[in-house]
Amino acid sequence: MKRKSPESAQVEEERIQTAYEKRKGNILYSWLDPSLVFLTQERERRILFVLKQLGFSSLNTIKLLEIGCGTGFWLREFIKWGFEAEHITGIDLLPERVRIARQLCPQNVQIKCGTATKLGFSDRSFDVVFQSTVFSSVLDPTMRQQIAGEMLRVVKLDGVILWYDFHVNNPRNPDVQGVNKREIERLFPKCRVDLRRITLAPPISRFLAPFSFLTCYLLERCKILNTHYLGVIRML
Ligand SMILES: C[S@@+](CC[C@H](N)C(=O)[O-])C[C@H]1O[C@@H](n2cnc3c(N)ncnc32)[C@H](O)[C@@H]1O
Repeated sequence: MKRKSPESAQVEEERIQTAYEKRKGNILYSWLDPSLVFLTQERERRILFVLKQLGFSSLNTIKLLEIGCGTGFWLREFIKWGFEAEHITGIDLLPERVRIARQLCPQNVQIKCGTATKLGFSDRSFDVVFQSTVFSSVLDPTMRQQIAGEMLRVVKLDGVILWYDFHVNNPRNPDVQGVNKREIERLFPKCRVDLRRITLAPPISRFLAPFSFLTCYLLERCKILNTHYLGVIRML
């Protein structure tokens, strides 16, 4: 693949920063919204099930890195599930998001401000490297490849990369782009990539969840209206 100049990385970082600035006022997440409760509980269930299937018997020994941790929602989820705060590390590009994450997470969670294209951690230092909706926010293919390369470098040989992201495009948001199965396989060469389609399309769950979680659950099980992949990526 053609290597791009550092200036083009800077252009992409600035584009990401501007895209999040634009979104600031628009996004209203409220735990009183039944669709957010449905979406979150469903993801929790799925991710915990995957961790169990991977053979982890306890969570308090796992060393985990989340790239693009945002304001630290998942970091706090991991702690709620029993991960040790000092075993958890997050990194995000945007200083404002890192500031909020540091404010909301326990002090011994390490949260760095920086780019996931240069992680600055030792090779093979994490059991689990997690990303949730980061790749879909990065439109530049070279940056996507660099981030994937760094995730592969820092994960232990017997560790796992956990992936959660859209595989479809959002026609109303040009700042994000879904990542399909072929691209995920290209991003992580020489790996076994297992993908499950999860997450009922958010406009549908927003409409249905206030009336019936059961209907949302059954539709989600049908998979056809699901918009994201939950992926387990391991080195061969
Ligand atoms: C949609 S948000 C998801 C946040 C969090 N992972 C979650 O699921 O709640 C995507 C995050 O990726 C971060 N990000 C995008 N490109 C990045 C990069 N090159 N390095 C580090 N973080 C990045 C953004 O700043 C943003 O916080």
